[in-house]
Amino acid sequence: MIDTHMHVVPGADDGAADMAQAVAVARAAVDAGVTSAIAVIHATGPECLDRSTASELLAALQTELREQGLVLDLTLGYEVDLSWACALEISDLVEYSVGNDHRIIILEAPYVGWPRGSQDLVFRLRLHDMIPVLAHPERNPHIQAHPEILTALVRQGVVVQITVPSVMGAFGGAARRTAKRHLLRGEVALLASDAHYHRLGRGDLRHAVKRLKQVMPNASIDLLVKENPALLMGGVAPQPVTGLASVSRLVAWLRSLVW
Ligand SMILES: [Fe+2]
Repeated sequence: MIDTHMHVVPGADDGAADMAQAVAVARAAVDAGVTSAIAVIHATGPECLDRSTASELLAALQTELREQGLVLDLTLGYEVDLSWACALEISDLVEYSVGNDHRIIILEAPYVGWPRGSQDLVFRLRLHDMIPVLAHPERNPHIQAHPEILTALVRQGVVVQITVPSVMGAFGGAARRTAKRHLLRGEVALLASDAHYHRLGRGDLRHAVKRLKQVMPNASIDLLVKENPALLMGGVAPQPVTGLASVSRLVAWLRSLVW
């Protein structure tokens, strides 16, 4: 599997305080079957960790992982606060893109409110041929109450990334139901861990995959954790997983009643 959202850079944000915690997060991912990942750092303002320092920290982690025999390919990225991103020029946002190709921007859905400029931001990003990935929108109360907001963004080209703790109910029933709703609407392209050391084990992709097998065919789940992440890492915007046959979709809905 490829995890498109993991907080593992040592000392960079609330993901891992030091090298030991970072290795623990990486080890848990490897144990879960993750072979490569986007190592994101929270970016909520200009004071966030700069790219060159972050790259050095990530390189040190990669060296440590190799010495410990852990095979995990990590690409640096940021998780940019959506409200802050709306106020930035695209030329400034590029600094916080994933890897070196300047095309992928991971945006963090807020936990309260919803910025009015989100559609304008997505329009500007698409105009620059960039790929906006929206992390865990299912946790936002506005999205929970107004699914049409997310639907409109998906139509604009937003890549929706739901996260393991939401699927597992760790953030409550509303987030879990919203994740399920947009999955079954065919609006979700990625499932990621959003792993942090302080909630080690609650970002285990295997658990969410097992849960989703109750409502989705294996091929669709592979798209969420393998094929679509691979496309994204190759600079191609993955499409939402919509390939459920009508009978499968009906069965999924019926099964979802007990999820
Ligand atoms: Fe995150």
